[in-house]
Amino acid sequence: MNIERLKKIHRYSGIILATFFLFHIVNHLFAWGGPDTHIRVMNLFRHVYRFPPVEVILLLSALIQVTVGLMLVWQKGFRKNLYDLLQVISGLYLSFFLLFHIRAVLLGRYSWNVETDFHFAAWGVKNHPADLFFIPYYSLSVLCVFIHLACVHRQKMLALAVTNAGFATSPLQVTRQAIVIIATGIVVTALILAAFITA
Ligand code: HEM
Ligand code: HEM
Repeated sequence: MNIERLKKIHRYSGIILATFFLFHIVNHLFAWGGPDTHIRVMNLFRHVYRFPPVEVILLLSALIQVTVGLMLVWQKGFRKNLYDLLQVISGLYLSFFLLFHIRAVLLGRYSWNVETDFHFAAWGVKNHPADLFFIPYYSLSVLCVFIHLACVHRQKMLALAVTNAGFATSPLQVTRQAIVIIATGIVVTALILAAFITA
């Protein structure tokens, strides 16, 4: 398939997934209020994302994101600079994570018949030796979304500067903005993991 068409599909499914991600991390930050608060917020958000037509679209978006993302890597390779490399590496980690994460959530719900709430996610980060896997597993997932989107932001802003000569933002400023997005990701990741471990 034409690369521009692949990018367009990836962009649209990315918008759906990123919107869910925003609510998902806000939900996880509520772990600072304790497990019951986290569960109350999740129950509220579930009215939206567990509404069957919405959930089908969300899960399909995740599948499309991974499939089309891998096709983009296959077509474009690892390319030239640090940010292109970070975009591909974060995308590859997200492919691994999304497939295992969604599989675990669906198995939990439909096969193991457990409630996939705060305690489901917290078990892995609170118990040794499972924490040796689950702390990096969850931390990298949140961080990689921020890294991936920071690289997209940088790439789009630089392209805008090339096509629009009067564009005021310099390449250095654009790189700084990408670094700020990644730094925000590090803070958000640390806050979520600290909340889950201590709650
Ligand atoms: C949370 C999940 C993800 C989101 C929100 C997301 C979002 C995006 C967006 C908006 C773009 C820019 C597309 C454009 O040019 O308009 C992009 C580019 C890209 N994504 Fe993702 N993505 C995600 C996951 C993945 C995954 C799982 C892969 C698989 C490896 C991947 C690989 C790539 C690659 C290689 C590009 C660069 C395309 C290019 O400019 O050549 N992404 N991503
Ligand atoms: C600290 C990291 C994360 C934790 C602790 C976590 C935890 C959870 C939990 C407990 C559920 C079940 C929700 C429910 O039953 O209502 C879930 C579902 C899900 N998560 Fe995550 N998650 C994390 C990161 C991510 C990331 C980075 C993404 C990518 C965008 C993601 C995408 C999803 C999706 C698509 C679902 C399925 C929603 C559904 O039930 O339809 N998660 N996650």
